[in-house]
Amino acid sequence: MQIPNKDLERYLTDLIGHDALEQIGEEPVSIRANTLMTDVDAVRRRLQTWGVRFKPHPLNPDGLLIEDDFIPLSHSLLYFTGAIQYHGASSQVPVLALDPQPGETILDLAAAPGSKSTQIAAAMRNRGRLMLNDVSELRLQTLQANLNRSGVINTSVHCLPGQRLGRWLPETFDRVLLDAPCSNLGKNAGQLERMRKWKREILDHQSNLQFHLLASALKTVRIGGVLVYSTCSLAPEENEAVIDRLLQAYPHQVAVESIPLAPGGVLQPGLPRVGDTAVHTDLQKSRRIYPYPQPMESFFVARLRKLETIPVRPHHEPLQEIALESPGQTEVRAALDNLASLWGIDRAFFDAFAYHLTQKKLWLAAPERQIALKNGLVGIGLPIALRKSTGWRLTNAGVRFFRHRISERIIELDLDDLVELFEKGRIDNWGKQPAGYYVLRYNDELVGAVSHFDQVLKIRLPHSFRLAL
Ligand SMILES: C[S@@+](CC[C@H](N)C(=O)[O-])C[C@H]1O[C@@H](n2cnc3c(N)ncnc32)[C@H](O)[C@@H]1O
Repeated sequence: MQIPNKDLERYLTDLIGHDALEQIGEEPVSIRANTLMTDVDAVRRRLQTWGVRFKPHPLNPDGLLIEDDFIPLSHSLLYFTGAIQYHGASSQVPVLALDPQPGETILDLAAAPGSKSTQIAAAMRNRGRLMLNDVSELRLQTLQANLNRSGVINTSVHCLPGQRLGRWLPETFDRVLLDAPCSNLGKNAGQLERMRKWKREILDHQSNLQFHLLASALKTVRIGGVLVYSTCSLAPEENEAVIDRLLQAYPHQVAVESIPLAPGGVLQPGLPRVGDTAVHTDLQKSRRIYPYPQPMESFFVARLRKLETIPVRPHHEPLQEIALESPGQTEVRAALDNLASLWGIDRAFFDAFAYHLTQKKLWLAAPERQIALKNGLVGIGLPIALRKSTGWRLTNAGVRFFRHRISERIIELDLDDLVELFEKGRIDNWGKQPAGYYVLRYNDELVGAVSHFDQVLKIRLPHSFRLAL
């Protein structure tokens, strides 16, 4: 491998040695079965019928390493309907260390584009409260699209600087994930080849930001709660050094917990020193994933436990909250009555959830979600329906959520029509049903929402979607 930046080559050679550096490759495509929609055996069976070769993930029973993504899977109905999520093999490990439980209150502080958020929601079985935050509005759009595709209902999504959350929401969460912004150092070979402008000072800058985000994250954890810190960088300045600084700042308030070393040697202990400086011996309980000998993305994961309270100065900007509506609230009730009668959904089923009604959209949320933080709010739960002059139109996410309950306004397509619809986003000269909104069924499965106006059948697709099956 050619590393064009000589400072970087020297730094990495000191860190891992020349031979290891030569072994860094590209990690294969990995996916995770979305257990909110399906299970891993159903995904395996589907891959087998297509002749896609795969291996089990070494640590996550829901993960699969795809040996040849020739379809590609991002153009399959499995992906469109939220049954699978592209998710790097190493990147699945931090949430395993977090170990989210149904019904808990959890924060993902730097969440976009949401690979780990959807994994957390699945582990929570869509129950409890999951707050997702990121400072990038653009990346949050991708996150919301991922949540919608995956059928996640227990979230509120916010665009806020993570540094503030410690002062806004002290001792609020059972578990917090900080998957920190990092320099991506040594993530994979291609990425090293592109790091022409790398300077060592980048690490100091990152390390400082990471420490402030981590200190903020720690403040948001309740006493006895769990905080997981992860990066996709090999650099100890962004990993062991950040945790070491936290342990020095809060020696009585936080402790490092061991993450079991799984068989196969994928997880390696944290380093005992950063450069010439020894770090706290507990750092060896944290885990490193090296991008060799197995072709995995590099990762660092530390699991911390909050032991004592940390006094915080309240933030000068007031915290605002928004209350969700019950299914019995007058306007929500009218919307739900309309949805039930238009789409043939059992009306009683709607009573199990909380709702957020805006001018144009109806959002459905897990019942535990009674209030949400209003500051920086992007969305709450799943946008299930859009207000139209003719009534409430189900979104793709709404169709998938109610897929076992919808009994009206269904259009069945054969494979040729389906391929045409996904290729162009439309089928011209359709005219087989009266104008209006419908649900698309293929192979006994409700796939998404379609509209039929002026003899044209249309579907909204997440990207240019050449259906590959
Ligand atoms: C490694 S990425 C997160 C990836 C994400 N957890 C996932 O699994 O898809 C780091 C994220 O931190 C966000 N970020 C950077 N600075 C931040 C800040 N001050 N507060 C909150 N988020 C921040 C970036 O926008 C970026 O999305």
